[in-house]
Formats: sequence, C-alpha cells, structure tokens
Amino acid sequence: VDHLLGIKYLNKDDIDLIFKTADHFKEVINRPIKKVPSLRDITIANLFFENSTRTRLSFELAEKRLSADVINFSAASSSVKKGETLIDTVNNILSMKVDMVVMRHPNPGAGIFLSKHVNAKIINAGDGAHEHPTQALLDSYSIREKLGAVKGKRVVIVGDILHSRVALSNIFALRLQGAEVKVCGPKTLIPKHIESLGVEVETNLQKALQWCDVANMLRVQNERMDISYFPSTREYIQQFGLNKKMLDRLEKKIVVMHPGPINRGVEITSDVADSDQAIILDQVQNGVAVRMAVIYLLASKIKQ
Ligand code: CP
Repeated sequence: VDHLLGIKYLNKDDIDLIFKTADHFKEVINRPIKKVPSLRDITIANLFFENSTRTRLSFELAEKRLSADVINFSAASSSVKKGETLIDTVNNILSMKVDMVVMRHPNPGAGIFLSKHVNAKIINAGDGAHEHPTQALLDSYSIREKLGAVKGKRVVIVGDILHSRVALSNIFALRLQGAEVKVCGPKTLIPKHIESLGVEVETNLQKALQWCDVANMLRVQNERMDISYFPSTREYIQQFGLNKKMLDRLEKKIVVMHPGPINRGVEITSDVADSDQAIILDQVQNGVAVRMAVIYLLASKIKQ
C-alpha cells in the first residue's frame, strides 16, 4: 500500500501490522521522553480544507512525536479563497520538498484524485461522506484494547449512516477483522443496499443495544444534510438518542464509543458520554499512536 486512502484498500495483515506498530508507539508516548527520532528527514504537510479538532491535532502531534518537520495549511486562511485549485495548491506545497500529505477535504475521492496527480504519500484524513480510515483504525484499536479482540465482537453503529465516512470506514475495518456489524438509525439516514457490505440493519435502538458488545454513536451531520431527509431533532432523540436508562436496562455492560464531535443531548446524553462505559477519550488518546504507526509505515516506503 503506497498511500492510506481508505480502509477499502487494506487487508487484514495491513491492519495487524498497523496495530502492532501502534502498540510500540503507545508505549513510547507514555514514557517521560515521548519523542523518537525515526522521521527526522521527512517533511509532512497537513492540508485541511474542512474543519477539524481531533484529527488535525492528533496528526500534528503524531508527526512531531516522530520528529518529522510539519507544516499546516488551513483552506479558510489560504489562497484557495482567491481561486487556487487543489492540484496547484498541493504542487506549490510539494515544491518546498514535502514528502507526505495528510488531507481532509469535503469532496469524496479527493485523496484518490490527489494520489494520481502528485508525487507524495497521501493520507486521507476524511473525504466528504466517503472514508475516514485513521478514525476506523483507532476505533478498532480501542475495541481491541478494551475487549481483547475485534474478531467475533458485535458492533452496532448508530445514527446518520448515510452521510458518515466514519461509518463506512468502520464497516470495512470491522468486517475485515471478523466482527459482526449492524447499523441502526432512521431509514432516511441508512444507505440503500448497505447489506451488500455484510452488515444488517436494525431500526430499533433498544434491540440493537441488547444484541451488541459495542455501540458506536455517530453525530447527525447537519452540514451534509438535505433537510427533507431528516426526522426532527426531537424525534431523533426519542428514537435514536442513547441515555443512561437504556444502558441500565441491559443485562450486560456494553462499551460506548463516539468519534466526536458530540452533540450532547442528541445522539448521546452527557451522563452516558462521561460514564465509565464510554471510551471516547481513550479513542482520542489511541489516535496519536495509531497515526504515528500509519505515518511511520508509509514513510518507510519513501526511504526504500
Ligand atoms: N473524529 C473526528 O474526525 O473529529 P474532527 O472532525 O474534530 O477531526
């Protein structure tokens, strides 16, 4: 694999190698001296054409922990606003001798397009409603850490599946590793033919919770929404919002995940998000080690 454009392009061995490498880096970043000199000769550009808190900071920290040189670009304050194209923007940045590009972009397939036109390793940090591969990797890594393995676990992904790159990348990653996956949400927010990806649809949240070991609660992506798709927020909360009472009714203690940002009181109540069943901040913490692993493994190919 020359780039990380999507989980779709990985196999189970790739994921195992990333996790083994991330285990090492997780141990490194828990030491008093958190940095390794591995990528002293590598320069990485973080190009964000869409807003981000976790992914942008996590990539930057991962790069700095590996001792890479880092430059950051935010479209909102750049010459993109004067009409410069994506390829011109990236080629100008690459002419400053950049080896690797981490890119978030609102258009599905933007990373794939870029990988065909520029000479650098590309990591997709989220492309529209298509894929968010490092999120899915850190999610699976966190399940593996919490439950010992991903294989055989029952995971329900709840919410706005239609607009979610996190859902699609998670489905690919979880299925590759042998997890059982259901999606749960309003019919209007579940893509047609999603069963062809090896997942089942459940529209009753309480039934989905009874079935699962892990519930991954997604945000309703109002920014990608045609308003006619959507039940009202009140209806959404009634049918698909996760609250403490629902968790307490279950016979077992399930693991609750959320990729962030959270709409507190919509897809998840604060008492659930902040409870000991939620591993939301563990996911964020693991994101740094997982991204260090992805960057390190791709950079090793530059040197060959
Ligand atoms: N989970 C995630 O991608 O969050 P950000 O949009 O803040 O990067």
